[in-house]
Amino acid sequence: MQVINGDSFTILPTLEANSIQCCVTSPPYWGLRDYDHAAQIGAEPSPDLYVENLGVVFQEVYRVLRSDGLLWLNVGDGYARNGGTGRCGPNAIVGNTKKLIQKRNCKVPECWGLKDRDLMGLPWRVAFALQAKGWILRSHITWVKKTAMPESVKNRPTNATEEVFMFAKSPTYYYNSGAVREPTGANLRNYWVLGPDVNGNGHPAAFPRELARRCILLGSRMGDTVLDPFAGSGTTGVAAVELNRKAILIELNPMYAEIGKERMRYAKTTRIETANT
Ligand SMILES: C[S@@+](CC[C@H](N)C(=O)[O-])C[C@H]1O[C@@H](n2cnc3c(N)ncnc32)[C@H](O)[C@@H]1O
Repeated sequence: MQVINGDSFTILPTLEANSIQCCVTSPPYWGLRDYDHAAQIGAEPSPDLYVENLGVVFQEVYRVLRSDGLLWLNVGDGYARNGGTGRCGPNAIVGNTKKLIQKRNCKVPECWGLKDRDLMGLPWRVAFALQAKGWILRSHITWVKKTAMPESVKNRPTNATEEVFMFAKSPTYYYNSGAVREPTGANLRNYWVLGPDVNGNGHPAAFPRELARRCILLGSRMGDTVLDPFAGSGTTGVAAVELNRKAILIELNPMYAEIGKERMRYAKTTRIETANT
């Protein structure tokens, strides 16, 4: 296992081509949080630049992925607003959000014909950008959140879902449909009802370990290498270690990289050496 503290833009090109079986990741959402680094993704002055930057990063992921590999990508949306941050909701002023990012998220961006209160559709815009760069979009999973972020809105339903896209590099790829099934035994459906992990892990935007676990089980074998270029607190790495996969994690913020290392070390010492598929 390897946790690299650095910028995915510069680290990914140093990784060997065709060396990764499965990538499971969640980049920062545009304009939402400040990860306190000049090279961070998500702080671009406009969302079209954000989509462009993600296109560059995932072109490198494409290069390092094996030809039968899979990319699982979780991306969140946001609203175009003039003014309008509150304590809750997609434009909320959250704990570690700095003034600059808030300001960017308080003015309707001049792209895509966006208007005040428009949902920007960022997950699908990113998905289409990746499709145009050669990725094959095979599935979109709706992650239904058991505990959604509260929103004080009265003029639309509260958001309680996010997208997880499954991309392949080639029309045929490794996918173990037997590794995760519905409770009835049927093929897994494309909506996953998942709650947050009970023990916080010191990151404001961690995804549930079960989300990473499913993607890894479906998209890799024991001993394969799993990548997360936006590792945060290392949830993908923890799930990979628990499932006897190798992991390469890249994280810009040294504090989160350290948390990821520590969590993976702990997972390694406590994992049960059972045969996983
Ligand atoms: C949504 S969080 C990932 C959370 C992670 N899935 C978890 O469960 O903890 C995105 C992470 O990407 C990192 N990041 C932002 N820009 C980056 C870049 N250019 N290279 C590497 N990491 C970056 C941020 O510091 C942040 O921790």
